[in-house]
Amino acid sequence: MQDIIEELKRRRDAAQLGGGEKRVEAQHARGKLTARERLEILLDEDSFEEFDTFVEHRSTDFGMEATRVPGDGVVTGWGTINGRLVYVFVKDFTVFGGSLSQAHAQKICKIQDMAIRNSAPVIGVFDAGGARIQEGVDALAGYGEVFARNVLASGVIPQISVIMGPCAGGDVYSPAMTDFIFMVRDTSYMFVTGPDVVKTVTNEVVSPEELGGAKVHTTKSSIADGAYENDIECLTQMRRLFDYLPLSNRDKPPSWPSFQDAEADDMSLDTLVPPNPNKPYDMKELILKIADEGDFFEIQENFAKNIITAFGRIEGSTVGFVANQPMVLAGVLDSDASRKAARFVRFCDCFNIPLVTFVDVPGFLPGTAQEYGGLIKHGAKLLFAFTEATVPKITCITRKAFGGAYDVMASKHMRADINYAWPTAQIAVMGAKGAVEIIFRADINDPDKIAARTKEYESRFLNPFVAAQRGYLDEVIMPHGTRRRIARGLRSLRNKRVEMPWKKHDNIPL
Ligand code: HXC
Repeated sequence: MQDIIEELKRRRDAAQLGGGEKRVEAQHARGKLTARERLEILLDEDSFEEFDTFVEHRSTDFGMEATRVPGDGVVTGWGTINGRLVYVFVKDFTVFGGSLSQAHAQKICKIQDMAIRNSAPVIGVFDAGGARIQEGVDALAGYGEVFARNVLASGVIPQISVIMGPCAGGDVYSPAMTDFIFMVRDTSYMFVTGPDVVKTVTNEVVSPEELGGAKVHTTKSSIADGAYENDIECLTQMRRLFDYLPLSNRDKPPSWPSFQDAEADDMSLDTLVPPNPNKPYDMKELILKIADEGDFFEIQENFAKNIITAFGRIEGSTVGFVANQPMVLAGVLDSDASRKAARFVRFCDCFNIPLVTFVDVPGFLPGTAQEYGGLIKHGAKLLFAFTEATVPKITCITRKAFGGAYDVMASKHMRADINYAWPTAQIAVMGAKGAVEIIFRADINDPDKIAARTKEYESRFLNPFVAAQRGYLDEVIMPHGTRRRIARGLRSLRNKRVEMPWKKHDNIPL
């Protein structure tokens, strides 16, 4: 009996070594942790339960039968983050460069299936060279099986992808179908085809970093939702993000202790909006004052900064904040901002996270670049997302709500539940200058007349009271009581139920 136990121990120890000391050293020399070291940071201490430690590939082509490594390049199993269940797969670059074989794919699929069945999120950590080249179509089939499960799991359980090394070829499409992608600066990159193929096909010379580094994907392509300095910071932040998320679409957002009184007024909010309507102010200050303990987690912080999307908590429960940012392009809605916010709104709606929307938007961005880039369709995404969302929706207009952007930003007409405005709100088809130049075109050369008309327009429309008179706003509120109003509103909406017309699924303008 002792022999058998020794044998298990020997095999386990061998599996722990992954691709061996030399490759582990090389991994460390690149500033990267190994798969098992990453799991230690991601999961609660001593909570990891490993599956399939002894799975090996079955390939015999190109001398592969001589190179079997237990685990086959991916460590899989489950554990907890602050006591809550999570399924994980972590690619091990020290074994065949983390490349995906049929057996490797089967390990990931097992985790995905269990996560769906047991209603818990999946976190996948990527650090790999794509399809196991020696396995040919078996590797492609393996990817297909993983992709299909990503699709089935979408909207059922949260899926998070963390890119901590190369992520190329077949490896990119699984993350692309998950809810969030995070990267590590300087050590991770994602692309469908690498620099060598790019050079051959297009003659373009580009480095991996320029082609698909964290900077590119967090600022240009918007593929990644955030990036961090190193493995430790990234994994610690994933634990923080995880705490905001429900375990599945049948779960309510988690509730954590909150120490900030929701009934207390914050007088500083009364002076947040500057007297000059063309002066910017930082909308993040408002989120900071509304979220419990001023704590919030931004998604896509460095992309389309004219809109803010962030998770925060009110009275201990997660909410999704969507807010125009007057500090960037005056908070205008453009294609990028619309896409970014639409995806966030849809995530929140999938997972029962109420939406709190702050509005200060001068309209949609005019110009050929936007129109040629499909602004109509991208803007429609946000309109569509807010409208179809059945989670509790509370909106507060702090200043401008002009034109179509007024409708889009979770207005009453888009079926928001509670719509507030501050006394500084201006709700109109457009700003005074543009409006007067159109409706009083005949007076355009008479500055006195134009000034008088502008004043008339401003006093008639640039306030919240016309909308309030019609019931499009539920109340005009004092800024200092905003947190109390939102907290009470959310409490009142806890049992919200909405019946939607039967459909197979909608056809959001993609
Ligand atoms: C088998 C692989 C591998 C792969 C790396 N390795 N990628 N083995 N299949 N795809 C092995 C290497 O042979 C090497 O083994 C070890 O992993 C480390 O790789 P290195 O090249 O030494 O590391 P590095 O210099 O850091 O370069 C990493 C890399 C490079 C950029 C990822 O390995 C690379 O370009 N790999 C191939 C990428 C690729 O073209 N993949 C196929 C994509 S096609 P030893 O034993 O020497 O340590 C694809 C199609 C699927 O994925 C589409 C589905 C839709």
